[in-house]
Amino acid sequence: MTWQPNSWRDFPIIQVPEYPDQSKVTEVEETLGKKPPLVFAGEVQNLREQLGAVAQGEAFLLQGGDCAESFAEFSADNIRDSFKVFLQMAVVLTFGASLPIVKVGRMAGQFAKPRSASTEVVGGIELPSYRGDMVNGIEFEKDARIPDPERLLKVYEQSASTLNLLRAFAQGGMADLHKVHSWTTGYITDTVQAERYEELASRIDECLAFMQACGLTANTASPIGETDFFTSHEALLLNYEESLTRRDTITDAKGWFTTSAHMVWIGDRTRQIDGAHVEYMSGIDNPIGLKCGPTMDIDDLRRLIDKLNPDNIPGRLTLISRMGADQVLEKLPPLVKAVKEHGSSVVWCSDPMHGNTVKASTGYKTRRVDDVMKEVAGFFEVHDAHGTYPGGVHFEMTGQNVTECLGGVSEVTEARLGDRYHTHCDPRLNASQALELSFLIADLMKKRRDSQLQQKKAS
Ligand code: PEP
Ligand code: CO
Repeated sequence: MTWQPNSWRDFPIIQVPEYPDQSKVTEVEETLGKKPPLVFAGEVQNLREQLGAVAQGEAFLLQGGDCAESFAEFSADNIRDSFKVFLQMAVVLTFGASLPIVKVGRMAGQFAKPRSASTEVVGGIELPSYRGDMVNGIEFEKDARIPDPERLLKVYEQSASTLNLLRAFAQGGMADLHKVHSWTTGYITDTVQAERYEELASRIDECLAFMQACGLTANTASPIGETDFFTSHEALLLNYEESLTRRDTITDAKGWFTTSAHMVWIGDRTRQIDGAHVEYMSGIDNPIGLKCGPTMDIDDLRRLIDKLNPDNIPGRLTLISRMGADQVLEKLPPLVKAVKEHGSSVVWCSDPMHGNTVKASTGYKTRRVDDVMKEVAGFFEVHDAHGTYPGGVHFEMTGQNVTECLGGVSEVTEARLGDRYHTHCDPRLNASQALELSFLIADLMKKRRDSQLQQKKAS
């Protein structure tokens, strides 16, 4: 059978909504099919090349953003603050690794959620689960929980606006390294990492002054004045992806691209080798991610790699490990070893969020910053032991001052979780926690680089 944007429809599918009126769904799909693409093939190929550099150990991937974007929290300020956190983290990581940081947001399309349970019970009443604003409403009411296909159009419109602003920020002056001091978010003050960040920003100022004296300015060297920023989401609703799947008419690219985002990934619940999601993703030319949880089987992983990246193109496939802090040292090594023996060029990325969700005594779904860091450290340790490259991290985070994850220097405690718990799905790191983690990861990267330099010297 040959692949087509709609060939997934002949394969078994899970985690998708059951709409009450299929004709309305078809109408929406037709409307979406006529909309302009959100991204274009040239940008997508640029990301693939940058991820190719990550696969070779020459760059590092920073992927992050909301667990679920929402219609209610959509605002220019939220987008700006998330973008600022990204820039801060990237600058910290660049210093640690002395490598370019590839920035990919979970933004401008991350609206649909797979769920472990298809229904939710509150006070003895059972209703269908909330599956993200792309599917139904979060309110615990019967009508809100009915899937509505019109939401796909709203997602498209909000993604277009978000992407427009992100492009403006990335290329319109905000990402200029001379603005490094202004990327801080108001509420992070008087903390150790705020101080560390200011120190680093001052060092960057010094470097920029030196470079300017040498004739390198934002006008002569574009990476000083602007940055590349890419978008990504879980490709869960395949009819949305299919409607935005296009052939490129501008570059010499021959294949099909989903134009909903630069990169899309397959979730841990929908990675069945014979399932619809893997079928769809096998045929598009975008860089793709594959979540690998603790139940990932070695043979399945090999088969998935063969199906998703048969030509072994560097940057095409990112394996996103999400094992949990207590399992990473046991579950990740066999996979890393198998991929290495298979001769596959992949990006290995650590998602230290989804294996570390716990329930606080107050009932909130939360994560401990310590567990998040423990999983990243374990991820680095495994790659060190196998001579492979820990290529990136994947975070759920926000620029807002939320209290959803526990710990960090700002000390979010169980009792304080309720203060500003705003997520539509999983708990996110706030900007302060995200920045703190970047410093810790930068230290790990620096240690790794120093030990490699020493080994080179010794040999
Ligand atoms: C997610 O990234 O929001 C998610 C649901 O992850 P996973 O598929 O790894 O559980
Ligand atoms: Co999540």
